[in-house]
Amino acid sequence: MSQLAQRCNAINLAEGFPAPPHLKNAAVSAIISDSSQYRHLQGVCDLLAKIVKQMHGLDIDPLKDVAICCGQSEAFAAAIFATLDPGDEVILFDPSYETYEGCVVMTGGIHVPLDPPQWTLDSSKLPRSFTEKTKAIVLNSRNFLAITDEVYEHITYDNLKHISLASFPGMQERTIITSSLPKSFSVTGWRVGWAIAPAFLASAIRNIDGRVTDYAPAPFQEAALTALRSPPEYFESLRRDYQSKRDYIIKLLGGVGFKIEFIPQDSFFLFAELPDNCPLSDVEFVKKLILEAGVVAVPGQGFFHTNLSSNEVSNLNYQKRYVRFAFC
Ligand SMILES: Cc1ncc(COP(=O)(O)O)c(C=O)c1O
Repeated sequence: MSQLAQRCNAINLAEGFPAPPHLKNAAVSAIISDSSQYRHLQGVCDLLAKIVKQMHGLDIDPLKDVAICCGQSEAFAAAIFATLDPGDEVILFDPSYETYEGCVVMTGGIHVPLDPPQWTLDSSKLPRSFTEKTKAIVLNSRNFLAITDEVYEHITYDNLKHISLASFPGMQERTIITSSLPKSFSVTGWRVGWAIAPAFLASAIRNIDGRVTDYAPAPFQEAALTALRSPPEYFESLRRDYQSKRDYIIKLLGGVGFKIEFIPQDSFFLFAELPDNCPLSDVEFVKKLILEAGVVAVPGQGFFHTNLSSNEVSNLNYQKRYVRFAFC
């Protein structure tokens, strides 16, 4: 689909936005000052500790509880590799971000389908998904490790505030927070992310990072220092901008017949259901959109992992009826 979109020079509603000029300048200065070696920037961990305290009231040790990684994607993978043994299972909700699936496939991913159109959780399904092999859940549970993905922590709507699961009583010691720079600062290709976890887990994650990528890119860690020092007004204006973009795209797509029952409460993606009178699948629709309108979006089926032939779930046809539009 990406190749077709490139050939057609399609407008990309799949991803992407330009980086803010002050961050570009920070990265350029770092490159010019020869920040070009393998490097761990303790300053990034120090700033993260400050932010986590301000936002969630959590005390963390910036020397021991943080692992800087190449984006949330590596932080998540390293968290999985650091904590799971062969045969362990991880519970994931479905639909979910694509890379989770690839990481847990080496161990065992158990998908709990959320129910459309609001993507709510039927609470009877969750306990049935736990087995004696379950080691972690990507979200929340009492007796298991929780791995959270908080990349949209600063992009929330309707005055909602992001609350980290780790800030709930008793959760900090069993939660690995993963997050990154890209979404909050419009720098998806810079690959700076982190895991924040109790020291023994963070140390295991750093160990995996050391064997896999051995540090996030140095100049972008330098630029992260500038980003993470952004004043509260930066985040307020980020939220205001996205709020108007979200409201605009909902109106626009709703106006041409898309069914938008689930209104995003964070992120800059809209998961829109194809109009009832559209006979195409998500993939067919996106191909046609590229060829005839010169616009590319993402077919929704890549976000679903529940087996289509599963007996437990009677009707999963909805998996081919969603398209993801970015509004960044
Ligand atoms: C929910 C979610 N998590 C993680 C990521 C990837 O983050 P990173 O670029 O830091 O690896 C994305 C990117 O789209 C995302 O939507």
